[in-house]
Amino acid sequence: MDMLTLSHVAKNFGEKQVLRDVSFAVPEHTVFGFVGQNGAGKTTAMKMILGLLAVSGGEIRVEGMPVRYGNTPTNRLVGYLPDVPEFYSYMTPAEYLRFCGEISGMPSKEIKNRSEELLRLVGLDKEKHRIKGFSRGMKQRLGVAQALFGRPKLLICDEPTSALDPAGRKELLDILTAAKEETTVLFSTHILSDVEHICDEMAFLHEGKIALKGSLDEVRKIRKASAVTIEMERPEDAGILRQTFPFLKNSGKNSLLLKEAERLPELLRLIADRRCPIIRIERQEEALEDLFMEVVGR
Ligand SMILES: Nc1ncnc2c1ncn2[C@@H]1O[C@H](COP(=O)(O)OP(=O)(O)OP(=O)(O)O)[C@@H](O)[C@H]1O
Ligand SMILES: [Mg+2]
Repeated sequence: MDMLTLSHVAKNFGEKQVLRDVSFAVPEHTVFGFVGQNGAGKTTAMKMILGLLAVSGGEIRVEGMPVRYGNTPTNRLVGYLPDVPEFYSYMTPAEYLRFCGEISGMPSKEIKNRSEELLRLVGLDKEKHRIKGFSRGMKQRLGVAQALFGRPKLLICDEPTSALDPAGRKELLDILTAAKEETTVLFSTHILSDVEHICDEMAFLHEGKIALKGSLDEVRKIRKASAVTIEMERPEDAGILRQTFPFLKNSGKNSLLLKEAERLPELLRLIADRRCPIIRIERQEEALEDLFMEVVGR
């Protein structure tokens, strides 16, 4: 079942049309990457999913229920980590989560259990310091804990990794992957390696439309003729292949890159005839980064 669907969603601010026709569906218990360049309209779309902005056209549903602008009942199912989360910085993480629980009206015993569980999940269970001394990574992790507090069915995170260093990003991505057990995650990003690491599916937003969407495999298959890497055991064999087939490119020590995949049989014939030992032959996967650049036309 789909936890979230956007159907032909459009948004303009006055004359300016930011989203023209955006449709995608986020299946339950997946991590879904919402990718787009700066200014593509990711935050705008997320705010519409939360009913914080009105759509100019189309429809958004959360677990089948339509989202209404203003106080939408669908937000009972949604947890949100904004792009720049704000906290009461004089509190410790445990105090902050208790405060979140209290304003949501949860019984105190449950608040304690849920806080402990979430602080463990985000690796802040031993942290007794006040939030004001926290690194960005720690703040983002606390933000995820806060967003998960009410056991949302859909967790929306707006660029949760953009400001983090590689270690902080890895920690946050691991947390989102773990969160998939109990929720569905929609997160926006322009960091394609994050998408490659943790997403089940994704949608690329470009010029107000979804330029590409699907599972990682589906998206990669859009480019059919992918290249092949051949790694030879002996450098002299790599040299002979290069001489015989001048279109081969060097791609590392003893490795050759064949872009003309249809010529692979000829190459293999020569390798077999000369009994050249091979270390590996591998279909080169299209890097998401390259695909993205192709889509945005650069
Ligand atoms: N309230 C508003 N009034 C007018 N224009 C707006 C408003 N909010 C956003 N925009 C415009 O909409 C476009 C999309 O902005 P948005 O913040 O949704 O992009 P984004 O994909 O989240 O970008 P980033 O990666 O920088 O966070 C931008 O051109 C922005 O200037
Ligand atoms: Mg944004």
